[in-house]
Amino acid sequence: VAITLGSGLGVFVEKIQVEISVPYKEIPYFFAPTVVGHSGNLIVGKVNGKRILALQGRVHFYEGHSMEEVVFSTRVLGLLGVKTLILTNAAGGCGEGMLAGDLMIIEDHINLTGTNPLIGPNIEELGPRFPDMTEAYNQDLRLKLESVFKKNNTRYQKGIYGGLSGPTYETPAEIRYLKMLGCSAVGMSTVSECIAANHMGLKVVGISCITNLAAGIANHKLSHSDVTETAKKVEFAFSKVLTNFIEII
Ligand code: HPA
Repeated sequence: VAITLGSGLGVFVEKIQVEISVPYKEIPYFFAPTVVGHSGNLIVGKVNGKRILALQGRVHFYEGHSMEEVVFSTRVLGLLGVKTLILTNAAGGCGEGMLAGDLMIIEDHINLTGTNPLIGPNIEELGPRFPDMTEAYNQDLRLKLESVFKKNNTRYQKGIYGGLSGPTYETPAEIRYLKMLGCSAVGMSTVSECIAANHMGLKVVGISCITNLAAGIANHKLSHSDVTETAKKVEFAFSKVLTNFIEII
């Protein structure tokens, strides 16, 4: 099992009995994140006796990396033998009834980045040319995750994550458009990692921390400090859900 920790969600690392922590800058072809709230360590350790790998922070397409570079660390996890990948992120909420601080089980995504990490010659050793994405977010794992939320009496949402390139937040018109498409949350990561992981046959499960209501829904302007502040407020509940989820998968 591996987990990719998004903006401000790196505190989950405190739940890990860390055995090895390697800064990304010491790993060939890894890039150190440039975004506040992303640390940049590959961690090997145990959560309640269960061995996990954690990517503490990620790099994004908007930082100027190619999609191949963005998914490099995900592919390394797959080659290290990871079978289940938990993707976490901070996202703007645009679904009905969403509140800042909600956690959302990602049911599916819409890739609106305008590109795809698998464009180019197919790497046959990793997976097929035309990977199936019917269950991009594994149903069995989604149900298990939902059972953890219920058991912990933790408020949760379910919905579709719209993945955009960023780095601008969306315009209110774009958010109305995304809502029409069926998106409940919007963010700047995750979809490419999910695609690369599915290509390799990994099971993926995703959780968005709704750090803010999306543009035009919120009655104020958006800022990254609001994103990291809200992520900080929910990191305790989030870490508990993750820990309990890891126990049962
Ligand atoms: N939009 C896109 N990405 C985000 C947002 C948002 O409102 N909040 C956190 N990541």
